[in-house]
Amino acid sequence: MKPITTIRELQEKLGKLRIGDVSIGFVPTMGALHAGHLSLVKQALADNDICVVSVFVNPTQFNNKEDLEKYPRTLERDCELLATLSEDVIVFSPSVEEVYPEPDTRQFDFGQLDKVMEGKFRPGHFNGVAQVVSRLFDIVKPDRAYFGQKDFQQLAIIRAMVKRLGLGVEIVPMPIVREASGLALSSRNERLTEEQKLIAVNISKALFASKERMNSTSVGETIRQVINDVNSHEGLEVEYFEIVDGNTLQPVGDWTEADYIVGCITVFCGDVRLIDNIIYKGE
Ligand code: PAF
Repeated sequence: MKPITTIRELQEKLGKLRIGDVSIGFVPTMGALHAGHLSLVKQALADNDICVVSVFVNPTQFNNKEDLEKYPRTLERDCELLATLSEDVIVFSPSVEEVYPEPDTRQFDFGQLDKVMEGKFRPGHFNGVAQVVSRLFDIVKPDRAYFGQKDFQQLAIIRAMVKRLGLGVEIVPMPIVREASGLALSSRNERLTEEQKLIAVNISKALFASKERMNSTSVGETIRQVINDVNSHEGLEVEYFEIVDGNTLQPVGDWTEADYIVGCITVFCGDVRLIDNIIYKGE
């Protein structure tokens, strides 16, 4: 399976295939594919006539140069993995210049959605995500696009962007895929040593345990317990843990305050930044 690298070639190919009432499913990725990504691609293949997967490490969403440089790039292996699902998957892997012939200066307004959690700790990150996703949507023109719920805030931002720009793309959320140990799959896990992987399991353990206790524990106490629980493991350091309304992403003070409540956590395992979340209520 050979990746397509130019917009022209991709659009020519899609133009030939897009005859009559065919649907395009799109899975945007930054590569280093794992079973989580493959679950999105499987769903896109099942729901659509054509499936496009982009592999593009988007520089505008990294606010840390070292993080961008260290981001795993494994295009050949990614293509091999995709070929195990279907030889018909179209892989689009453009250069930075192809996606951004000129610097993208667009500023998106997401109200309060990007002022909290990841948005607070990674200023500009979601603006960069919106830049690249809107650009890729414009190139691929998909009917549906698939995003993992592990990046819970990203999903909310993309939904808001599609609504505000009237892009007419159906956003399909997909559940978090975990290792048998509970560790949420992430391309960043590749940077963890075997020992760190064992330690990182305590993030999801703390989240699952907190859900079991929620009926007898307040929101405030749950936050304190999860942070203490994760930090009690040497090698883990919580950056933030917030319990929020799943729609507005604003913190809730009580379990009765919203119908959809989610706990979102970011933890440093050594210098690897891991995110995870748990749905306490709703959806
Ligand atoms: O979730 C990701 O991998 C990225 O943020 C995305 C959506 C592919 C945009 O670069």
